Amino acid sequence: MASVEDLQQQFHAALESATSPAGLKALRDEYLSRKHGRVTLLVKSIATAPPDERRTLGAAANTLKKQIEAALDARDADLLAAARPKDALDVTLPGRRPLVGRRHPLTQVRERVEDIFMAMGYQVIEGPEIEDDWHNFEALNMPAAHPARDMQDTLYLSTPVPAPSTGLGLSGRSESKGRAATLLRTHTSGMQIRYMETHEPPVRIIAPGRVYRRDNFDATHTPMFTQVEALVVDEGVSLGDLKGTLEAFAEQFFGGRVATRFRPSFFPYTEPSAELDVECQGCSGRGCGLCKHTGWMEILGCGMVHPAVFESVGYDANRYTGFAFGMGIERLAIRLYGVDDIRMFYENDLRFLEQVAL
Ligand code: DAH
Repeated sequence: MASVEDLQQQFHAALESATSPAGLKALRDEYLSRKHGRVTLLVKSIATAPPDERRTLGAAANTLKKQIEAALDARDADLLAAARPKDALDVTLPGRRPLVGRRHPLTQVRERVEDIFMAMGYQVIEGPEIEDDWHNFEALNMPAAHPARDMQDTLYLSTPVPAPSTGLGLSGRSESKGRAATLLRTHTSGMQIRYMETHEPPVRIIAPGRVYRRDNFDATHTPMFTQVEALVVDEGVSLGDLKGTLEAFAEQFFGGRVATRFRPSFFPYTEPSAELDVECQGCSGRGCGLCKHTGWMEILGCGMVHPAVFESVGYDANRYTGFAFGMGIERLAIRLYGVDDIRMFYENDLRFLEQVAL
């Protein structure tokens, strides 16, 4: 028993001075080597001890062996850690994947639309979201009392109401006279006017951008959304050109043949007017919640430019014809991604954004 304790003390003293890997290796050999290790020899010697002591001696020797092994391993690890520079790269750690940003799904859809029309020779233009009455309504064949203005609930920033009388005898000089109402554009159609006012035919443009309406915020409405306007004006532009253009667009946008249909409609700035429906993505036309069980989804309004619109920008309506259309980006996105709630596009929930990508 005394030799077990001696060995333990000697080992711990030796361990204190073993400060290099080589020293530690030598110590390990000295005590644990299979042939001549001091612990090994101790265990062997137990066989010659008196029978009644063997059991306790064996247990003590075994415990000592384990202690020594553990102490040597711990010191080994310490020396290894000390040898490594503090800020060294630990290649054994699991990798951390960096978060990669990407463009918003609505941006991706808008760019997809732009790419398709740019390839067809259209120019992309942009204009102000704060618009005046002339460009948003009047020049588009919607004079002040026109009922079609009720088709859209407009958010006004200022209205040309008569200035209140000051009672100072100045009422004859109404400052508001002729002041145009400013509003948040309710559609991108005003860009047709802005472009034609500053350019001569031929015209071949698209104008993407945000539009605003006094609307609820629910699964199918948002007070702000995105449109892409298009306008083509030249001599001899026909309804056939419009249909062909939109069918080609639908095929490219949805990546294959999709069923489309034109429905007669009404817009003051086009005659004739139509709306384009595409077969619902969610149910392939069979009818589902996404398409309100019609099998179709409306994606845009279109038509042949009304002569009154040409007149308001000084184009010769006898010489030129044209077509126009305006499509909803959110509608396209909903159909492309099979999303059933438009609000998803505005909540910036990463769980949603990570799932929708082109
Ligand atoms: N401005 C219409 C809307 O916001 C869409 C539209 C319809 C645009 C017919 C056009 C058009 O250019 O010709 O609902």
